[in-house]
Amino acid sequence: MQFKTPEEYKPGDILISHGEIQMKIQTISSEIESYFHGKNVLIIGVMKGSFMVMADLIRALHEAGLYDLTVSALTVSSYGSQTVSSKRPTLKHEIDIDVKGRHILLVEDIIDTGYTLKFVIDELLLRGALSIKTFSLLSKPSRREVNIDADYIGFVIPNVWIQGYGLDTDEWGRGNPDIIIGPIVGTIDK
Ligand code: IMP
Ligand code: MG
Repeated sequence: MQFKTPEEYKPGDILISHGEIQMKIQTISSEIESYFHGKNVLIIGVMKGSFMVMADLIRALHEAGLYDLTVSALTVSSYGSQTVSSKRPTLKHEIDIDVKGRHILLVEDIIDTGYTLKFVIDELLLRGALSIKTFSLLSKPSRREVNIDADYIGFVIPNVWIQGYGLDTDEWGRGNPDIIIGPIVGTIDK
């Protein structure tokens, strides 16, 4: 998908529509199904932002024929709202399942600086995960501080603040079925 430059967007514009998201999830879910075919997979959502894509992805995986799965989630602490990213994330809510010896599919909403994803992968490996594949609906490579990317990426987007489809601006906007441009950075503060 082709995006415009950040300056060409204004708050409220649709960046990615619900329909475009669904089509992308369908394509990626058949790739994921082929990869995990015959394996039991533990799907771990990084909450809270990924709850909506998690639901759609798991439905799509089912339709693609991936039935042997376990669903879990964890929450990583984050500080601030738009501008501050946590360089030292911590686990806020634990996984309810022992990851030792498991094949894991990690589900993220967005990779921004990369600190969150790096932290979660390291933590799961430390706990004895057998293999980890990562899915992120969105990626903002221009913001990356840690050299990391997901194995499956939905959309590579420009450096714009977004909300909707599970993503929030200070808890606002998660329920929007589309991904839209959020308020201008700095206009919302905690
Ligand atoms: P990272 O550790 O910097 O990669 O941060 C990833 C987390 O920051 C994501 O899981 C989101 O919760 C949040 N985030 C990053 N960019 C945005 C955005 O544009 N809108 C909403 N949340 C975002
Ligand atoms: Mg998140």
